Amino acid sequence: MISSHHDPVRIGVLFSESGVTSVIETSQRIGTMLAVEEINASGGIDGRELQMIFRDPQSRPSLYRTLAEELIVEEDIRVIAGCYMSSTRKAVIPVLERWNALLLYPTLYEGFEYSRHVFYTGAAPNQNSVQLAEFMTRKFGSRVFMVGSDYVYPYESNRIMSDLVLERGGEKVAEHYLPLGATQSDFDAVVRLVRDDSPDFIFSTVVGEGTAMLYRAYREAGLDPARMPIASLTTCEAEVAQMGAEFAEGHITSAPYFHSVDTPANRKAVEALQAGFGSSQLANQCLEAAYFQIHLLADAMRRANPDEVESLLRALPGSEFEAPQGRVRIDEQNHHTHLHPRIGRANTRGQFDILEQAKDRVRPDPYLVSHTLQDWSVRTALRSSA
Ligand code: ACM
Repeated sequence: MISSHHDPVRIGVLFSESGVTSVIETSQRIGTMLAVEEINASGGIDGRELQMIFRDPQSRPSLYRTLAEELIVEEDIRVIAGCYMSSTRKAVIPVLERWNALLLYPTLYEGFEYSRHVFYTGAAPNQNSVQLAEFMTRKFGSRVFMVGSDYVYPYESNRIMSDLVLERGGEKVAEHYLPLGATQSDFDAVVRLVRDDSPDFIFSTVVGEGTAMLYRAYREAGLDPARMPIASLTTCEAEVAQMGAEFAEGHITSAPYFHSVDTPANRKAVEALQAGFGSSQLANQCLEAAYFQIHLLADAMRRANPDEVESLLRALPGSEFEAPQGRVRIDEQNHHTHLHPRIGRANTRGQFDILEQAKDRVRPDPYLVSHTLQDWSVRTALRSSA
């Protein structure tokens, strides 16, 4: 199709509105819509409106693949913003490669992947796992109990965490996986094992609806987060809102962004978010990545031909944006993003107190070629107690 100077520039939006990861993906859809609103309010893409075409893949990997292909083939879309679970991203990649389309992926993930057709704007393991391993072993000890959902991100993240903990002389006490549809009694049973094993901390790679059940089981077992917290890369403000702040309080998350980040860009974005989507709406790392990646895209589209994938593939690498977390940059070599690692502890308000943060943004190293903890050694401690 040949577009005219007045046609909208259309992008696909592929986040689940139903199913196990719908809460976090709804927040990613909101981050996307907020950015699109801002871009259109300031003139769109050289006068052309940026328009979103939505599909709901219902948290089912095969439906992500079907709907991605539908967006590309039937709607003639070349750029899709979407996906949360790594299983869904991996389902979409062959379709992108077949039809020469792009995915902007705003979710932390396990690394060890590169596709020319994907831009990864969430944290890679050297921007969250390395920091979490270093922090937890320093503050709590190195005997770790692992519990995750049963799919690729938890398997691979546990492998990475095992290596990092073993490097520091630690020990993996246990490794358990529960299906995405696990029930409260499944999580109660896992927490009984935690109690028996008495680790120094729990590393959770549980995602979606199970997250609330894990933290609930932990609290109802009478365990103490000040002594043996749950450490996670995925439990953020959206999951905390779903479970209730009292269940998350005291537990630890490693992420490049929290709602509580104190930057001018974050104050502005949060104000716009709450004006548009309700005064109680909190941002989170996935909403923020969904937001800034659309600004990076719009900026690249203004410098390129917005309807041509090859032109966008030249314009996006190296591009920068003053994001709520700090200035971010898409790496020229690996399509991942330079981000600002932080460690947060959940508080009584359903937000995170930021305990430590990297002094500078950290270059993405998705294959952990040089995971020496050195990037993190230039951290700043923001609070003395942890
Ligand atoms: C994830 O599956 N990348 C959270």
